[in-house]
Amino acid sequence: MRHLMSPLDFTTGELDRLFDLANDIEKNMDKYAHVCDGKKLATCFYEPSTRTRLSFEAAMLNLGGNVLGFSEASSSSAAKGESVSDTIRVISCYADICAMRHPKEGAPMVAATHSLIPVINAGDGGHQHPTQTLTDLLTIRSLNGSLSDFTIGLCGDLKFGRTVHSLIRALLRYENIKFVFISPEELRIPDYIITELKEKNAEFEEVTKLEDVIGTLDILYMTRVQRERFFNEEDYIRLKDFYILNKAKLALAKETMMVLHPLPRVNEISVEVDNDKRAAYFKQAQYGVYVRMALIMTLLGLADGVLESDGQ
Ligand code: NCD
Repeated sequence: MRHLMSPLDFTTGELDRLFDLANDIEKNMDKYAHVCDGKKLATCFYEPSTRTRLSFEAAMLNLGGNVLGFSEASSSSAAKGESVSDTIRVISCYADICAMRHPKEGAPMVAATHSLIPVINAGDGGHQHPTQTLTDLLTIRSLNGSLSDFTIGLCGDLKFGRTVHSLIRALLRYENIKFVFISPEELRIPDYIITELKEKNAEFEEVTKLEDVIGTLDILYMTRVQRERFFNEEDYIRLKDFYILNKAKLALAKETMMVLHPLPRVNEISVEVDNDKRAAYFKQAQYGVYVRMALIMTLLGLADGVLESDGQ
């Protein structure tokens, strides 16, 4: 049995297969409408979410399966003091696969070690968010044509943003990617990631002004300042509008640059950018459903032999 805790749990070859399946799902939705008939997905969310939980649920429903779960800790037995390991043992009796989001780093990993069903980390604190990373990689691969040879700017809250941490780790396995980290001093990328970048000899730079580098980027990954992970509200208020991508800034960018954002957005991308052809964040949310469908099939052992290439 396999779980998904980090994007690195899959080899790059396995990821290619997963993305091929997701692209086939995009083209031939009907073919997959009954793949998970009779199967159940439990969504155990101890922290707020719109996209991740609903895209998991949409993914399972698109595959013909059913969903059950809770969307806040207060409506689960966690409120009575039940441990994650007990909860997952019980959920293992009710469902075939579980997606878990938790404010504590490592909680989905604890669940996985006690589980009888595959567990997917749907975000653990400021740590990892592997299915958002799969979504980001699928979006880049589908719209850019490849996962190598580009300059990516990651902008905003690079300290607390788990989507950023997961994505950098995943991209470090591909060729010729240059990273540009754009953040205020207080929200710089954590040192442990800088160490990893250096160990892998990755090319990177850290800047504070988006305007200084936007013209060099092929991809701009904007992020929200993670209010819930701040220790005091004053710091949040001071930093929350540090970056606002608007038409004037976008005018300095390449015509082909792709703007991504894991969403939810607060103020960091002005709505006037939404109609620009470079804005890819809503398309990215759609890819999130396809990749989660492919992931559910893969972890349930239902992906073998479904692609044309499998028979060759
Ligand atoms: C992200 C998250 O939860 O980390 N959202 C998401 O899953 N799409 C990003 C965020 O909350 O800012």
